[in-house]
Amino acid sequence: MNAEELRTKYIEFFTSKNHVRIEGKSLLPDNDPTVLFTTAGMHPLVPYLLGEEHPAGKRLVDCQKCIRTGDIESVGDSSHLTFFEMLGNWSLGDYFKEEAITMSYEFLTSPRWLGIPPEKIGVTVFEGDDTAPRDEESAAVWKRLGIPESRIAYRAREDNWWGPAGAGGPCGPDSEMFIDMGKEPCGPSCGPGCPCGKWLEIWNDVFMQYNKTADASGASQADGPGSYEPLTRTCVDTGMGVERTITILNGKKSVYETEIFASIIRAVERASAYSYGTDAESDRSVRIICDHVRAAVFILGDPRAVSPSNVGAGYVLRRLIRRAVRHGRKLGIEGKVSSPVAAAVVDKFGGPYPELPEKRSQIMEELDREEEKFLETLQKGEHEFEKLLPNLLRDPKKIMSGRLAFKLYDTYGFPIELTAELAAERGLTVNREEFDGAFKKHQELSRAGSGQIFKGGLGDQGEMAVKYHTATHLLHQALRMVLGNHVAQRGSNITAERMRFDFSHDRPMTTEELERVQGIVNEQIRRDLPVSMEVMSLDAAKAGGAIALFGEKYESQVKVYTIGNAATGIFSREVCGGPHVEHTGTMGIFRIQKEQSSAAGIRRIRAVLEQGLLSRGF
Ligand code: ALA
Repeated sequence: MNAEELRTKYIEFFTSKNHVRIEGKSLLPDNDPTVLFTTAGMHPLVPYLLGEEHPAGKRLVDCQKCIRTGDIESVGDSSHLTFFEMLGNWSLGDYFKEEAITMSYEFLTSPRWLGIPPEKIGVTVFEGDDTAPRDEESAAVWKRLGIPESRIAYRAREDNWWGPAGAGGPCGPDSEMFIDMGKEPCGPSCGPGCPCGKWLEIWNDVFMQYNKTADASGASQADGPGSYEPLTRTCVDTGMGVERTITILNGKKSVYETEIFASIIRAVERASAYSYGTDAESDRSVRIICDHVRAAVFILGDPRAVSPSNVGAGYVLRRLIRRAVRHGRKLGIEGKVSSPVAAAVVDKFGGPYPELPEKRSQIMEELDREEEKFLETLQKGEHEFEKLLPNLLRDPKKIMSGRLAFKLYDTYGFPIELTAELAAERGLTVNREEFDGAFKKHQELSRAGSGQIFKGGLGDQGEMAVKYHTATHLLHQALRMVLGNHVAQRGSNITAERMRFDFSHDRPMTTEELERVQGIVNEQIRRDLPVSMEVMSLDAAKAGGAIALFGEKYESQVKVYTIGNAATGIFSREVCGGPHVEHTGTMGIFRIQKEQSSAAGIRRIRAVLEQGLLSRGF
């Protein structure tokens, strides 16, 4: 079975069980400050898992592009992927454990679907702790379906519990499904979930059953204090990784041996004249190039694409491209590394992801530009190294401190391998231990700063975030009124403290324009306009003048939020998932703090909502 067949079968199976297929969303989450990338299929559905009504109904199925970066520098083994596709089915207050597990079992074992022999399937369920009981309910369903006790393992919270990652929210036990690869058990306690390689996970059913409330400080973590209240509206969230499942179903040792990567590996081979499978170290470089370029292509081909930069998602993108280039050089590629491989990625995935061929030339240009910048960086780094050299050579031990090597890395992006190489040419060695220490510290800081959360995440839907979300709509419309209808939202990012809004406009705004925009937004807050929501077809929404995000994929039925009504006059209408405030008067005072360039042709506004009521005379 190939990836295309798996996607099709999964969607077909769940639509036959009355699920509505929804489109996968952007890789770059909108309005969610807790993650840089969409990390799981459930991510774009967070508002609906929290109680918002979904326009497509209560049973949904989709295939979602995901990125988990964790630690880029450790990617390169045979199983790790930065970008992957996740199939998922959802119950939003509809079916629960019994039906979810029964459907999972049917899809896995029925000859009409995956046809996996039932005796090869093992599962895990939550073992229980002092906050939530042992999940006997799920275990009982598995037993009834014929999975013997010996292939049901009870595991702790760290393995069998999902979310919330932020401050409270829905969460619950999960039940994971594994395939027995036929290896001997590694010991008496070996069973489903054991990491020895006998059992490989292919699917995860999450049962959102509790609402975790934050502790008194309001800052609860996944495992921190707080209380778990049973939810009245329980949800199911499932996730099946496409690449992983294809690898397992085809009995391959690595995803790089499957058809998913075949043509991409061939592109690296053509560019480098190296044959994959000849040398372990070089094979690792091939895998890194394939993985990183594939992820970069999907980021650059996204409707909310970012460009390589030094912050946030742009920084991850930059590191992916530069690391691929470095490994390309190791393989002896002298010219462009990423664009020839990217061409193979676009060809391979253009069918299910038409946005890639549509943006083919932009993707290639961005990759080439970043490679050029990287070359400049390398030249600058070499120059700096030459400047340091006379001092370094004076050291009788001929050791270059790790601190200095780190400075070259941190300030000029100069890779440690190259510093070590240049140093070796002059008879110097670099103190790697000291470098590694400084590097590790830096990684910890940037990881904390990037806000990248562990196991997926439930976004921050606090009261302030909701207010900022509505402010986004007011600002969008105000900008169109002042600057013109060419203004289109290109991204937004909200925390409880501020909002950022990116939009298309090709020159800086004047002070007068900024004041007018701010005044228009505050005027709508002062008018205390009602906010309402309607579900309608996308065509009806567009015909009714609702703004939809350029390039975003929508379902056939969408939610439209309207600010204002027939009595007050309609100020704004947008296709949007919500949630929003009910009346604008509760939002506070809107202040623009900064307007700057964000990328070519894109401006960025940073704004805050200050407490206080706008007096009528404002
Ligand atoms: N959200 C769950 C996962 O990503 C299904 O594994």
